[in-house]
Amino acid sequence: METRPAPEISYDAALAAFEWLIELGATDPVGDAPVNRYDLVTPEPAPAPPPQAETRAPRPAPVLAPVETVDPVAVARGLAARAATLDDLREAILGFDHCPLKRGARNTVFCDGNPKARVMLIGEAPGKDEDAQGKPFVGRAGQLLDRMLAAVGLDRAAPDPGTAVYITNVMPWRPPGNREPEPAEIAMMGPFLARHVELVDPDLIVLMGNTACAAALNSRGITRLRGSWTQAFGRPALPTLHPANLLRTPINKRLVWADLLELRAKLNAL
Ligand code: URA
Repeated sequence: METRPAPEISYDAALAAFEWLIELGATDPVGDAPVNRYDLVTPEPAPAPPPQAETRAPRPAPVLAPVETVDPVAVARGLAARAATLDDLREAILGFDHCPLKRGARNTVFCDGNPKARVMLIGEAPGKDEDAQGKPFVGRAGQLLDRMLAAVGLDRAAPDPGTAVYITNVMPWRPPGNREPEPAEIAMMGPFLARHVELVDPDLIVLMGNTACAAALNSRGITRLRGSWTQAFGRPALPTLHPANLLRTPINKRLVWADLLELRAKLNAL
């Protein structure tokens, strides 16, 4: 392909172009060259043109093909059910093309931590750092989470299942501008999350924030739900505030501290 020299552009024109991109919803610079994601989709081959008729015959009435309706939740359910291992599940999610968030994401963020851990943490969705690195909770919220877990003797890198945690998110793809995932997006990824929990088979689950509660409990209202044990995916689950909430409202750290002590006590008692 011919490479064209970068056009000369004035400071004012560059600033105007930059402001226009922000107005369109761009939030982060992710590369030096633009990527047209529509070009990454393999186009359907164009239908062959009809053979030229010798003489003009009346055209037959077009036969309309039935519109194919896909139920993304049913597709996800089928794929998730066939996953016999965590690697299968990761592959199934990589092959699932019905969630619009996948198009805008740089990476599919599946998990981090020890799959043998007794505790499984469920967050919302990758942010900018997670999208770039392909791992959950590696940005500021994740670093805070690691410090809080360490205070109760838990560590995502621990080889011992008793002190380890396993971490995933409701959504494996970053929503644009870090918006909350929509109910339809949460619903279509639900079967993957349920299978994820089944395959990891933790003793306890921690639901971090409203999106995790919406996915696991079909309920929102984290300030009301937090701190009380409930059941999710057939096992004990503790809703708590999302670490990003604590970055915005540090006084809430005392609430999550109480929740983590509750988690520690339950782990010790089991
Ligand atoms: N917030 C989340 O819910 N998950 C991440 O992985 C990072 C931030």
